[in-house]
Amino acid sequence: MSKKITSVDYGLEKIFEGAQDFLPLLGTDYVEFYVGNAKQAAHFYKTAFGFQSYAYKGLETGSKDAVSYVLKQDKIRLVLTTPLTSKSIINDHIVKHGDGVKVIALWVDDARKAYKETTSRGATSYLEPTVETDEDGEIIKAGIYTYGETVHMFIERKNYHGIFMPGFQEWKTDYNPPAAGLKYIDHMVGNVGWNQMDVWVKWYEDVMGFENFLSFDDKQIHTEYSALMSKVMSNGNGRIKFPINEPAEGKKRSQIEEYLDFYEGAGVQHIAVATDDIVKTVSQLKSKGVEFLSTPPEEYYTAVPGRLEEFSHELREDIEKLKALGIMIDADEEGYLLQIFTKPIEDRPTLFFEIIQRMGAKGFGAGNFKALFESIEREQAKRGTL
Ligand code: FE2
Repeated sequence: MSKKITSVDYGLEKIFEGAQDFLPLLGTDYVEFYVGNAKQAAHFYKTAFGFQSYAYKGLETGSKDAVSYVLKQDKIRLVLTTPLTSKSIINDHIVKHGDGVKVIALWVDDARKAYKETTSRGATSYLEPTVETDEDGEIIKAGIYTYGETVHMFIERKNYHGIFMPGFQEWKTDYNPPAAGLKYIDHMVGNVGWNQMDVWVKWYEDVMGFENFLSFDDKQIHTEYSALMSKVMSNGNGRIKFPINEPAEGKKRSQIEEYLDFYEGAGVQHIAVATDDIVKTVSQLKSKGVEFLSTPPEEYYTAVPGRLEEFSHELREDIEKLKALGIMIDADEEGYLLQIFTKPIEDRPTLFFEIIQRMGAKGFGAGNFKALFESIEREQAKRGTL
């Protein structure tokens, strides 16, 4: 009998054996978005994506300059933050980039050490180690800049027993839509400018101790019209994976270039969230109004059985259901994966989500890149940005 594979196996094993990991990361702590209207964004993530109300800070809790809603679904925590006055520097981020990811927070055992290790290796400081306390204990946080204006915060919470962080109160609501089966963040992708991919690959290697474990060049990632390059960076224990994309020359404008133009710089392109039942999750998201990229053509699905057979994997899902929902399938030696991509979730064609179910495969759907990019190009053509 073949080895039993489940999508939850992924992310818990060591991907590479290097020197001692100077930046041990326990996982993603939260992702913070700066948005124009956090109250409405929170409603959207609850209704459309099945996130649950979790914590809140705002005028009622003594926060005078900004309001934040924390939403939770299994291990995923999203923080949605909006400034309350024109004087807040958060406005500058929103004016320039639109709604987008400001902070990718990483859960650590020792935030002071994480800050020292990374800044001594060349990271630019965003926040010096800061202790925040309340009656439930203390949080230590520190931050460094990564690509664009995006930030990595190191969060040490081993001496904290309250809800989220000091300054927040539990957010209880009467409106609690059902969860959609989203379990954890599988990977988060950054788009950087021309010739910047290797600069940031080196930065993640030198400053964060990550390793480059997969690379795709423009010969692999291209369509008739456009191209991009991508390198996947992983931390020491393999729990954190950050692919980094840069545009490549093609006949028409790369989707990465479109992103960079509209985000006005480098930033987070997509957040991939894992589910154990993608058919159920995607059916629910669609019924709640989440928009996905168009379904790949018929020939795509005709080729799937052959692709799985090549690696002797048996598809456990009903291919007709996958096809009806537009879910894509990719396979490698170790298993297969199922994935689908939303359209951008704001008006600027910038950030989007990926829903992924891993059935042993550790890749990122390279076999789907062509079908995916053709589908993105159809959207670009509608926007007049191809
Ligand atoms: Fe992805």
